[in-house]
Amino acid sequence: KKMRKKIVAGNWKMNMNLQEGIALAKELNETLTAEKPNCDVVICTPFIHLASIAAFLNQDVIGLGAENCADKASGAYTGEVSAEMVKSTGAQYVILGHSERRGYYGETPEILKEKVLLALKNGLKVIFCIGESLEEREANKQNDVVKAELEGSVFNLTAEEFKNVIIAYEPIWAIGTGKTATAEQAEEIHAFIRSAVAGKYGNDVAEETSILYGGSCKASNAPELFAKPDIDGGLIGGASLKAADFKGIIDAWK
Ligand code: G3P
Repeated sequence: KKMRKKIVAGNWKMNMNLQEGIALAKELNETLTAEKPNCDVVICTPFIHLASIAAFLNQDVIGLGAENCADKASGAYTGEVSAEMVKSTGAQYVILGHSERRGYYGETPEILKEKVLLALKNGLKVIFCIGESLEEREANKQNDVVKAELEGSVFNLTAEEFKNVIIAYEPIWAIGTGKTATAEQAEEIHAFIRSAVAGKYGNDVAEETSILYGGSCKASNAPELFAKPDIDGGLIGGASLKAADFKGIIDAWK
């Protein structure tokens, strides 16, 4: 496990105006530059924050990412932001496939497949989110759901391309609900996800793939989750909005 990258990534979602976002990023930058983390740290912010934050962020210590990108390369798509534009701000990552994008904005596996391809083509690393609903969990369909999500949007990639994909398992019932998957529940499905990656790309690629847990992850439960063999870190929503809370999760890797 400890061979692959350990990652704590923040997903700010639609929070923080520009000034607030800059202030938070500055605070994290100072804290983590002074005390180097034992893992990769990434902050994924609204598009409009990216260029301002990239201007001062010590990206040797904190990576920067977007929360989405367009499924088209460029052109007459009013209001969209392309992968190339994201990359040109200095960002290196993009979250794709978040359940909020799938659920509220109708992003289908086909759309996500295009987004993933464009992100990778433009040199971004993709944090690809998968995860089942409460209904699906209750019907014990979680493995089928996550496998279908992988097959639908990322298992078309070559092994070489797939090396720039980080998986984030986020059970929808645990997002923003305060209800975390138990470490055992999470480990079980993370191991399944890794076996699915192995089935597609072989063991070496699967062993190198970082699989993050997301859903009410906080400083108090992160150590137990991160101690599991197939959990390589977290994708953090609410607890990434305050430097001290986020740092508390990063410190789980100490
Ligand atoms: O992408 C992170 C996320 O959906 C988890 O949100 O607020 O439950 O940590 P939260």
